[in-house]
Amino acid sequence: MRTIAVVGTGYVGLVTGVSLSEIGHTVTCIDIDEEKVLKMQQGFSPIYEPGLSDMMTKNINENRLFFTTQHEEGFENAEVIYIAVGTPEKEDGSANLAFVEQVAKDIATNVSRDTIVVTKSTVPVGTNDRIQSIIDHHLVANVKVEVVSNPEFLKEGSAIYDSFNGDRIVVGTASEEAANVIEEINQPFGVPVFRTDVKSAEMIKYASNAFLATKISFINEISNICERLNANVEDVANGMGMDKRIGDKFLNAGIGYGGSCFPKDTKALVQIAGNVEYDFNLLKGVIRVNQYQQRLLLNKLYKRVPNIKGKRIAVLGLSFKPNTDDMREAASIPIIKSLVDKNVEVVTYDPIAIEKAKKIFNSTVQYASSIEDALKGSSAAIILTEWNEIKYLPPSTFKIMEYPLLFDGRNCFSLKTMEDEYIEYHSIGRPTVSLSKEKIHN
Ligand code: UDX
Repeated sequence: MRTIAVVGTGYVGLVTGVSLSEIGHTVTCIDIDEEKVLKMQQGFSPIYEPGLSDMMTKNINENRLFFTTQHEEGFENAEVIYIAVGTPEKEDGSANLAFVEQVAKDIATNVSRDTIVVTKSTVPVGTNDRIQSIIDHHLVANVKVEVVSNPEFLKEGSAIYDSFNGDRIVVGTASEEAANVIEEINQPFGVPVFRTDVKSAEMIKYASNAFLATKISFINEISNICERLNANVEDVANGMGMDKRIGDKFLNAGIGYGGSCFPKDTKALVQIAGNVEYDFNLLKGVIRVNQYQQRLLLNKLYKRVPNIKGKRIAVLGLSFKPNTDDMREAASIPIIKSLVDKNVEVVTYDPIAIEKAKKIFNSTVQYASSIEDALKGSSAAIILTEWNEIKYLPPSTFKIMEYPLLFDGRNCFSLKTMEDEYIEYHSIGRPTVSLSKEKIHN
């Protein structure tokens, strides 16, 4: 078992640190935010992630997991240091590497033994070589530091599960010795390791996310064509997915992708390509389709309810996807802003993300404590996140609205159910369920 330091306790850093301690390593997580460190020392996770707090508490109690604000303390005995600080998007779409470069300098001036530095942060191709030269340039002690690219593929909401059940662990380095150590560290996870050179490892991360985003934009465009032809995108996706070469995952049409990775990484890859004079046209299209897709559900609502000003509309689900309170790049943000701009009375509901949502929407919207409360008195409801609580809601609940009018951005319900329940139902890429006059009067 190894002594490990993890710099940065954002999503990636914290999950990495906690799961490495769970498999037996001694891990110190370092963050500059004192308040956050104090909370984590007591076992409180700053993010909502199923299973994370319990795992933190267990490993803190068993003396394998530590939190500190002091680099020196974390680096003191570390054989391996993980870099997991943020690479936020700059104005032009490229990744801001200031934090990563600062950590490289901190490592160089603090380490006093041979060390392996593992980059977990998503960084443009070539960055690990840069990290290596920054470290070599600033190194104080007479020691060897080897840099390894080890991108993360965790999904929010199932990150702990994914750590133990991932599809692959990518290890990119020029040093076979360093690769051996990283492979050995990860061995208890039981996930296959794929070894490659540094630049290819960096590219695997971007290419994977860009490909998944492409699948989503592709099915979203198919759904738009299906709507015009009265076909059903769900059946189309199921039929396509049975072809093993295509695969049945990531073919859910909806209001587009959000979150901290896809929007940022797709834009960064367009930049990376541009820097070597390659115009990544396909990916530019993927990004354009995603922006357009977020508007489509709203356009349907505005067309159906032309005099929307002053009407009460229920928005169900705010986070960018279920099982997380993450609001980053959530489709709910532009959608709600548009409604508010039109002077709509917006009443929102989300099982987990309300606190984070309050920081974004403040008092421009209302926050209901149940789906029923949100629906009461509303002229229409919009589903933006497919939380189980929403997906498995008895459909009759929508009849709390005087006239049951539902716009579903996540295709949570079957058309048959909505027909049987007499609910007017507009979804994505599927025929509209409308109510005949006779049904309304029943
Ligand atoms: C993603 C990658 O899956 C992960 O490997 C990477 O490390 C980080 O980025 P995450 O952002 O947590 O993970 O979410 P993911 O489950 O991939 O979903 C991203 C977005 O795509 C969500 O907004 C989701 O609603 C949307 N999506 C996903 C679709 O619209 N349709 C789909 O079929 C799948």
